[in-house]
Amino acid sequence: MMQLVRGFRDILPQDISVWQEIEETTKKHFENFGFAEIRPPVVEQSELFSRSIGDMTDIVEKEMFTFPGSRGKMISLRPEATASVVRAYIQHHLYAQDPVRKLYTIGPMFRRERPQKGRYRQFYQINAELFGEKSPYADARLICMAWTLFEKLSVSGLMLHLNSLGCPECRPGFRDALHSVISEKKELLCADCRRRMDKNPMRVLDCKVPGCREALASAPKMADFLCHECKDHFARVTGALKDMNIPFEIDPRLVRGLDYYTRTAFEVQTDALGAQNAVAGGGRYDGLVKALGGPDTPAIGFAVGMDRLVEVITASRDVSLHGPDLFVALIGESAVKLGSKWACGLSTAGIKTETDFTSKSLKALMRRAGRLGASYVLIAGDNELASGEAILRNMKAKTQTPVPLTELVESVATLLKNRE
Ligand code: HAM
Repeated sequence: MMQLVRGFRDILPQDISVWQEIEETTKKHFENFGFAEIRPPVVEQSELFSRSIGDMTDIVEKEMFTFPGSRGKMISLRPEATASVVRAYIQHHLYAQDPVRKLYTIGPMFRRERPQKGRYRQFYQINAELFGEKSPYADARLICMAWTLFEKLSVSGLMLHLNSLGCPECRPGFRDALHSVISEKKELLCADCRRRMDKNPMRVLDCKVPGCREALASAPKMADFLCHECKDHFARVTGALKDMNIPFEIDPRLVRGLDYYTRTAFEVQTDALGAQNAVAGGGRYDGLVKALGGPDTPAIGFAVGMDRLVEVITASRDVSLHGPDLFVALIGESAVKLGSKWACGLSTAGIKTETDFTSKSLKALMRRAGRLGASYVLIAGDNELASGEAILRNMKAKTQTPVPLTELVESVATLLKNRE
């Protein structure tokens, strides 16, 4: 028997309703904030990712699925969407009409990470990217959009973690100070941190190994190195979030795993998922559009990990599949012939309808309707055809109503649409 490739998974029909609910809620919510959908491809030049996410990051160093493309250039499955959206913003001059563009995209991303709960090699993200606004109030509004999405989806137990990563002016001072403390503690750090400390010292702050966390308990904090503008920006972001009653925690260890960030960085974390605790992450990336060849444009965005969000929602409430509104139980050849037309008409009229053409006994058909979780069953056999009335049974109340065969589709559709 053929099996799935390791680290990949099927999302099965019995689990799909929560995915669909998230997608529908997201689209409405984001559109209310002025965002429009964009759908970039899942493959890009590898160079796009190395230039934006950064050569020294885990993602680019070891997690991309990369293949030879045409003319000797390497191409990669996208490990995230921001780089692609920025590429499209520049390539299609989306800034020309108005420099402020708000774009969202939902789709699969690919990272060759070690598979575990909450971490897949193909996972889905909801991405929002806002271009052309440098105001700290734009940061607060975007974070508000993320936070209230979770509220709309009735997800509780989340914490918003916030930090400022400074800018190219003030970050080097922090990096140097951090690097010298890390060098002093080198012997206490895990192998990963020792490997990373020279190339990417900020990532060492993010290590989850208890020994590393202890060793760096008193490491310098970015907040103490921020330049005047970055400090002022961050104070306004936190002030605006307080005004919006959005709870947050300032987290000096929050550094993010992608190099393009400047100033505001944030994550929405949960304790319901074990080690993979971030359900969303994002931040400002004011230098990226210019670095990729576009106009000097500030930007900020975030991505929600849908797989993890689904896991949090599924753990907290019953998301079982809804059965059909109606099961059409047809007994005998003549009823099947007539009833197949009704079933088609009822589905078209907006009633979620199931039927069975195998001409089973009424008992067998009722068992099947029960198994499917149908709310109503429409029963028609030789007796009903002769009397000119089918029977509509409410499965919960266990009541029955006769329905004339003439204009049956319209009558049943009206009855079901008007039910409480
Ligand atoms: P990220 O933190 O790498 O940020 O990913 C965002 C979210 O995607 C994570 O918080 C997590 O929920 C989910 N995620 C990441 N990797 C996996 C995985 N292997 N399996 C399951 N879920 C995963 C970004 O990707 C940035 N592009 C976000 C952003 C947009 N920043 C600015 N704009």
